Amino acid sequence: MEEYLQAFALKPSDLLGKRVLDCPSGPDSFVAEINALGCDAIGVDLIYDKSAAELEAKGRADVSDCLEQMKLKPEFYPAMDFETFSKNKKLALESFIADYKKNRKRYIHASLPNLPFADRTFDLVLSAHLLFVYSPLEEDGYLKSGNLNLQWHHQAVREIARVSAREIRLYPTVAMNSAPRRHRYIEPIIADLSANGWRVTFEPSQYHQLSMEMNDCLVARRLS
Ligand SMILES: C[S@@+](CC[C@H](N)C(=O)[O-])C[C@H]1O[C@@H](n2cnc3c(N)ncnc32)[C@H](O)[C@@H]1O
Repeated sequence: MEEYLQAFALKPSDLLGKRVLDCPSGPDSFVAEINALGCDAIGVDLIYDKSAAELEAKGRADVSDCLEQMKLKPEFYPAMDFETFSKNKKLALESFIADYKKNRKRYIHASLPNLPFADRTFDLVLSAHLLFVYSPLEEDGYLKSGNLNLQWHHQAVREIARVSAREIRLYPTVAMNSAPRRHRYIEPIIADLSANGWRVTFEPSQYHQLSMEMNDCLVARRLS
Protein backbone atom coordinates (compact mmCIF):
# COMPACT_ATOMS: atom_id res chain seq x y z
CA MET A 1 0.00 0.00 0.00
CA GLU A 2 2.81 2.36 0.86
CA GLU A 3 4.37 1.87 -2.58
CA TYR A 4 1.01 2.39 -4.26
CA LEU A 5 0.34 5.60 -2.36
CA GLN A 6 3.78 6.85 -3.38
CA ALA A 7 3.37 5.80 -7.01
CA PHE A 8 -0.05 7.42 -7.32
CA ALA A 9 0.79 10.52 -5.23
CA LEU A 10 -2.04 9.77 -2.81
CA LYS A 11 -2.57 9.85 0.97
CA PRO A 12 -4.78 7.28 2.75
CA SER A 13 -7.23 10.11 3.49
CA ASP A 14 -7.68 10.63 -0.29
CA LEU A 15 -9.17 7.14 -0.46
CA LEU A 16 -11.29 6.82 2.64
CA GLY A 17 -15.00 6.59 1.97
CA LYS A 18 -14.35 6.11 -1.75
CA ARG A 19 -15.12 3.16 -3.99
CA VAL A 20 -11.74 2.23 -5.45
CA LEU A 21 -10.81 -0.21 -8.21
CA ASP A 22 -7.24 -1.45 -8.54
CA CYS A 23 -6.63 -3.03 -11.96
CA PRO A 24 -4.42 -4.99 -12.32
CA SER A 25 -4.19 -5.74 -8.65
CA GLY A 26 -1.73 -8.62 -8.97
CA PRO A 27 -0.60 -10.78 -6.05
CA ASP A 28 -0.28 -7.59 -4.01
CA SER A 29 -1.57 -6.27 -0.69
CA PHE A 30 -2.99 -2.86 -1.66
CA VAL A 31 -6.63 -4.01 -1.65
CA ALA A 32 -6.22 -5.89 1.64
CA GLU A 33 -4.47 -3.01 3.37
CA ILE A 34 -6.68 -0.17 2.15
CA ASN A 35 -9.86 -2.09 3.03
CA ALA A 36 -8.42 -2.62 6.51
CA LEU A 37 -8.23 1.18 6.79
CA GLY A 38 -11.94 1.50 5.98
CA CYS A 39 -11.87 2.00 2.23
CA ASP A 40 -14.15 0.10 -0.18
CA ALA A 41 -11.64 -1.37 -2.66
CA ILE A 42 -11.90 -4.12 -5.26
CA GLY A 43 -9.06 -5.72 -7.22
CA VAL A 44 -9.20 -7.09 -10.76
CA ASP A 45 -6.59 -9.30 -12.35
CA LEU A 46 -6.54 -12.08 -14.91
CA ILE A 47 -4.81 -14.33 -12.33
CA TYR A 48 -7.80 -14.35 -9.97
CA ASP A 49 -9.20 -17.58 -11.41
CA LYS A 50 -6.37 -19.39 -9.59
CA SER A 51 -6.40 -20.88 -6.09
CA ALA A 52 -4.59 -19.21 -3.20
CA ALA A 53 -2.01 -22.02 -3.20
CA GLU A 54 -1.30 -21.56 -6.94
CA LEU A 55 -1.00 -17.80 -6.56
CA GLU A 56 1.32 -18.11 -3.59
CA ALA A 57 3.65 -20.50 -5.43
CA LYS A 58 3.65 -18.35 -8.56
CA GLY A 59 4.07 -15.16 -6.53
CA ARG A 60 7.16 -16.47 -4.76
CA ALA A 61 8.70 -17.59 -8.06
CA ASP A 62 7.89 -14.22 -9.65
CA VAL A 63 9.55 -12.24 -6.85
CA SER A 64 12.77 -14.22 -7.41
CA ASP A 65 12.60 -13.88 -11.21
CA CYS A 66 11.83 -10.20 -10.99
CA LEU A 67 14.73 -9.57 -8.64
CA GLU A 68 17.15 -11.37 -10.96
CA GLN A 69 15.96 -9.33 -13.95
CA MET A 70 16.21 -6.05 -12.05
CA LYS A 71 19.71 -6.82 -10.82
CA LEU A 72 20.75 -7.14 -14.48
CA LYS A 73 19.83 -3.47 -15.02
CA PRO A 74 20.85 -1.65 -11.82
CA GLU A 75 21.17 1.65 -13.73
CA PHE A 76 17.42 1.60 -14.27
CA TYR A 77 16.74 1.33 -10.51
CA PRO A 78 19.16 3.89 -9.05
CA ALA A 79 17.50 4.08 -5.64
CA MET A 80 16.71 0.40 -5.27
CA ASP A 81 17.70 -1.64 -2.23
CA PHE A 82 17.12 -5.06 -3.81
CA GLU A 83 17.00 -7.02 -0.55
CA THR A 84 14.43 -4.69 1.03
CA PHE A 85 12.42 -4.83 -2.20
CA SER A 86 12.42 -8.63 -2.08
CA LYS A 87 11.46 -8.75 1.62
CA ASN A 88 8.61 -6.26 1.16
CA LYS A 89 7.27 -8.09 -1.90
CA LYS A 90 7.15 -11.35 0.09
CA LEU A 91 5.34 -9.63 2.98
CA ALA A 92 2.87 -8.10 0.51
CA LEU A 93 2.31 -11.52 -1.05
CA GLU A 94 1.55 -13.06 2.36
CA SER A 95 -0.89 -10.28 3.21
CA PHE A 96 -2.59 -10.68 -0.20
CA ILE A 97 -2.89 -14.46 0.15
CA ALA A 98 -4.49 -14.16 3.61
CA ASP A 99 -7.04 -11.63 2.30
CA TYR A 100 -7.66 -13.60 -0.91
CA LYS A 101 -8.67 -16.59 1.25
CA LYS A 102 -10.75 -14.53 3.69
CA ASN A 103 -12.40 -11.95 1.41
CA ARG A 104 -12.54 -13.71 -1.96
CA LYS A 105 -15.30 -11.40 -3.27
CA ARG A 106 -12.89 -8.47 -3.31
CA TYR A 107 -10.84 -10.15 -6.05
CA ILE A 108 -12.50 -10.31 -9.46
CA HIS A 109 -11.17 -12.40 -12.31
CA ALA A 110 -11.30 -10.28 -15.46
CA SER A 111 -9.02 -8.99 -18.15
CA LEU A 112 -8.52 -5.56 -19.60
CA PRO A 113 -9.84 -4.20 -21.92
CA ASN A 114 -13.07 -5.70 -20.52
CA LEU A 115 -14.22 -4.94 -16.99
CA PRO A 116 -17.39 -6.53 -15.55
CA PHE A 117 -18.74 -3.34 -13.94
CA ALA A 118 -21.46 -0.84 -14.79
CA ASP A 119 -20.52 2.65 -15.99
CA ARG A 120 -19.22 4.93 -13.20
CA THR A 121 -19.16 2.21 -10.53
CA PHE A 122 -16.02 3.55 -8.81
CA ASP A 123 -14.89 6.96 -7.56
CA LEU A 124 -11.29 6.21 -8.43
CA VAL A 125 -9.60 3.60 -10.64
CA LEU A 126 -5.88 2.92 -10.20
CA SER A 127 -3.73 1.06 -12.70
CA ALA A 128 -0.06 0.38 -12.04
CA HIS A 129 2.66 -1.48 -13.88
CA LEU A 130 0.64 -2.86 -16.77
CA LEU A 131 -0.29 -0.03 -19.12
CA PHE A 132 2.73 1.32 -21.01
CA VAL A 133 5.09 -1.16 -19.29
CA TYR A 134 3.67 -4.19 -21.15
CA SER A 135 3.76 -2.51 -24.56
CA PRO A 136 6.19 -3.86 -27.21
CA LEU A 137 9.91 -3.24 -26.73
CA GLU A 138 10.15 -1.22 -29.95
CA GLU A 139 7.31 1.03 -28.74
CA ASP A 140 8.82 2.03 -25.36
CA GLY A 141 7.63 -1.04 -23.44
CA TYR A 142 9.22 -4.11 -21.92
CA LEU A 143 7.71 -6.95 -23.95
CA LYS A 144 9.79 -8.64 -26.66
CA SER A 145 6.70 -10.21 -28.14
CA GLY A 146 3.48 -8.64 -27.06
CA ASN A 147 0.26 -7.38 -28.50
CA LEU A 148 -0.55 -4.69 -25.92
CA ASN A 149 -0.13 -2.07 -28.62
CA LEU A 150 -1.57 1.44 -28.89
CA GLN A 151 -4.98 0.16 -29.99
CA TRP A 152 -5.13 -2.11 -26.93
CA HIS A 153 -4.10 0.80 -24.70
CA HIS A 154 -6.88 2.99 -26.12
CA GLN A 155 -9.40 0.23 -25.40
CA ALA A 156 -8.02 -0.42 -21.90
CA VAL A 157 -7.95 3.26 -20.87
CA ARG A 158 -11.46 3.85 -22.27
CA GLU A 159 -12.67 0.89 -20.22
CA ILE A 160 -10.93 2.12 -17.06
CA ALA A 161 -12.49 5.55 -17.67
CA ARG A 162 -15.93 4.05 -18.33
CA VAL A 163 -16.13 2.44 -14.88
CA SER A 164 -14.87 5.55 -13.04
CA ALA A 165 -17.29 8.26 -11.96
CA ARG A 166 -14.60 10.80 -11.14
CA GLU A 167 -10.93 10.00 -11.45
CA ILE A 168 -8.35 7.60 -12.85
CA ARG A 169 -4.63 7.35 -12.09
CA LEU A 170 -2.12 5.52 -14.26
CA TYR A 171 1.50 4.72 -13.37
CA PRO A 172 4.19 4.72 -14.70
CA THR A 173 4.13 7.09 -17.65
CA VAL A 174 7.79 6.96 -18.58
CA ALA A 175 9.28 5.11 -21.57
CA MET A 176 11.06 1.90 -20.60
CA ASN A 177 14.55 1.22 -21.93
CA SER A 178 15.36 4.76 -23.02
CA ALA A 179 16.61 8.06 -21.72
CA PRO A 180 13.89 9.54 -19.50
CA ARG A 181 10.95 10.76 -21.57
CA ARG A 182 7.24 10.10 -21.67
CA HIS A 183 6.09 6.81 -23.13
CA ARG A 184 5.04 7.38 -26.75
CA TYR A 185 1.45 6.24 -26.06
CA ILE A 186 0.89 8.95 -23.46
CA GLU A 187 0.15 11.75 -25.93
CA PRO A 188 -2.50 9.84 -27.93
CA ILE A 189 -4.05 8.56 -24.69
CA ILE A 190 -4.30 12.13 -23.35
CA ALA A 191 -5.85 13.28 -26.64
CA ASP A 192 -8.45 10.51 -26.42
CA LEU A 193 -9.31 11.20 -22.78
CA SER A 194 -9.53 14.94 -23.43
CA ALA A 195 -11.85 14.41 -26.39
CA ASN A 196 -14.11 12.31 -24.17
CA GLY A 197 -14.65 14.76 -21.33
CA TRP A 198 -11.61 14.22 -19.09
CA ARG A 199 -9.03 16.74 -17.88
CA VAL A 200 -5.54 15.24 -17.71
CA THR A 201 -2.66 16.35 -15.50
CA PHE A 202 0.50 14.77 -14.12
CA GLU A 203 1.49 14.52 -10.49
CA PRO A 204 5.05 13.77 -9.42
CA SER A 205 5.30 10.26 -8.05
CA GLN A 206 7.22 9.58 -4.86
CA TYR A 207 7.88 5.98 -5.87
CA HIS A 208 11.57 6.08 -6.65
CA GLN A 209 12.32 2.62 -7.89
CA LEU A 210 12.20 3.68 -11.50
CA SER A 211 14.39 6.44 -12.84
CA MET A 212 13.61 9.63 -10.92
CA GLU A 213 13.18 11.75 -14.03
CA MET A 214 9.74 11.80 -15.67
CA ASN A 215 8.51 9.81 -12.70
CA ASP A 216 4.95 11.06 -12.91
CA CYS A 217 1.52 9.60 -12.40
CA LEU A 218 -1.14 10.46 -14.98
CA VAL A 219 -4.27 11.83 -13.30
CA ALA A 220 -7.48 12.22 -15.29
CA ARG A 221 -10.60 13.80 -13.82
CA ARG A 222 -14.05 13.63 -15.37
CA LEU A 223 -15.34 17.08 -16.33
CA SER A 224 -19.02 16.07 -16.45
C1 LIG B 1 3.60 -6.20 -12.86
S1 LIG B 1 2.07 -6.76 -12.24
C2 LIG B 1 1.47 -5.28 -11.46
C3 LIG B 1 0.59 -5.58 -10.29
C4 LIG B 1 0.27 -4.35 -9.41
N1 LIG B 1 -0.56 -3.40 -10.13
C5 LIG B 1 1.54 -3.66 -8.95
O1 LIG B 1 1.84 -2.55 -9.38
O2 LIG B 1 2.26 -4.26 -8.15
C6 LIG B 1 1.12 -6.87 -13.70
C7 LIG B 1 -0.20 -7.59 -13.47
O3 LIG B 1 -1.00 -7.40 -14.62
C8 LIG B 1 -1.82 -8.55 -14.77
N2 LIG B 1 -2.34 -8.51 -16.14
C9 LIG B 1 -1.68 -8.71 -17.30
N3 LIG B 1 -2.50 -8.50 -18.35
C10 LIG B 1 -3.71 -8.16 -17.84
C11 LIG B 1 -4.95 -7.81 -18.40
N4 LIG B 1 -5.13 -7.78 -19.74
N5 LIG B 1 -6.00 -7.53 -17.59
C12 LIG B 1 -5.84 -7.55 -16.24
N6 LIG B 1 -4.67 -7.87 -15.63
C13 LIG B 1 -3.62 -8.16 -16.42
C14 LIG B 1 -0.87 -9.69 -14.45
O4 LIG B 1 -1.57 -10.86 -14.12
C15 LIG B 1 -0.09 -9.10 -13.27
O5 LIG B 1 -0.68 -9.46 -12.04
